[in-house]
Amino acid sequence: MDLLREKFTKLGVDNSPGQEIRQKTAGIQIKGDAIPGKPVDFSHGDVDAFVPIPGTLDTFIAGVELGGKQAYTEYRGKSSIREDLARKLADFTGAAVSADEGLIITPGTQGALFLAMGSTIARGDKVAIVEPDYFANRKLVQFFDGEIVPVKLDYLGISGRAGLDLNRLEDAFKSGVRVFLFSNPNNPTGVIYSPEEIRLVAEMAKKYDVTVIVDELYSRQIFDGRTYTHLCAENIAPENLITIVGPSKTESLSGYRLGVAFGSAQIIARMEKLQAIVSLRAGGYSQAVLKLWFAEPEGWLQERINKHQDIRDDLLTKIRLVKGMEARTTEAGSYLFPRMPELTVNLQDFIKILRLQAGVTVTPGTEFGPQFTDSFRLNFSQDHQAAVQAIERIIKLIERYRK
Ligand SMILES: Cc1ncc(COP(=O)(O)O)c(C=O)c1O
Repeated sequence: MDLLREKFTKLGVDNSPGQEIRQKTAGIQIKGDAIPGKPVDFSHGDVDAFVPIPGTLDTFIAGVELGGKQAYTEYRGKSSIREDLARKLADFTGAAVSADEGLIITPGTQGALFLAMGSTIARGDKVAIVEPDYFANRKLVQFFDGEIVPVKLDYLGISGRAGLDLNRLEDAFKSGVRVFLFSNPNNPTGVIYSPEEIRLVAEMAKKYDVTVIVDELYSRQIFDGRTYTHLCAENIAPENLITIVGPSKTESLSGYRLGVAFGSAQIIARMEKLQAIVSLRAGGYSQAVLKLWFAEPEGWLQERINKHQDIRDDLLTKIRLVKGMEARTTEAGSYLFPRMPELTVNLQDFIKILRLQAGVTVTPGTEFGPQFTDSFRLNFSQDHQAAVQAIERIIKLIERYRK
């Protein structure tokens, strides 16, 4: 196979969140009747059930009304918006953030990930990623011709910390890893790294001169009053560190395609150069709504967290009644990553069966690491009642197809 074909084969999107509608379902062996109920798409959050920050549309329109001044911002984003963000992100994380040198606004957090990886991986570089972790991470390493060095997260076997195999991480760093990318809270498991885990990652990265990219997209939605540790605020932090955040999830601004990366000036400068050839800038009018982020009405965030925590609890109660099904309690964000008992059909077919027979869309575990053939991911940022009814339908089908 030629190199380009190989590269794009690895970039398959057939099972990626949002793409399910394009899947072929002919030839699947279906048992029994369909189970009626309101369709639920757990592959992403429902922005109709959890609407954007109050005032978002008006703020967007005000941006449009500014015309060219808002449409054609600097590639890294409009300076007054960067200044506002830098202040808010410094407050949030406890780390210094430079609006001028150390921050870029991107089209989605996804855009920030692409730019950060494209700016730090050279052909053949070893890049450590966590398994399981966000599905794009491994694809980005492959696309930029890096070599993946997987590090296991023992999320089911442990409590009180995420479960990162720190010995393996150190071995990876010793073996010449140049970049370490991970999400915190972890997608798909919803666990957060303990202060000790983050401190050790920071110390090891510093010691072995590894660039760290940490995707903190869900770091505002923390459950049960847990402690969240921002790596960028550690005393000992690696020289090259990029933190990525965005308002797509908790704040439901996904449709505005906004993300922010901050950290080492040299990497941010490269990211801007790359952005200049990919998309020029994040949508100028969309940038205007960042004014509302971290400035939501009093109580808004806590209410959103409480509502998600209630949905989480109801889903977990149902899941834990099923023999052979396991899930770690989500500590932050909106994901659950349950493991299923053995079924008579393979995972990919079962995912299609869920859509066909129960009107429920979930993401197969294999998107997050090839070994997760018995797990699926749910984004439970959904209408509460519809989500509970949908998990009941999933459970009925697990029983129907149980080995
Ligand atoms: C960990 C993580 N990073 C990045 C993204 C991309 O998000 P955005 O909509 O901000 O591009 C997602 C979306 O699911 C995610 O869960």
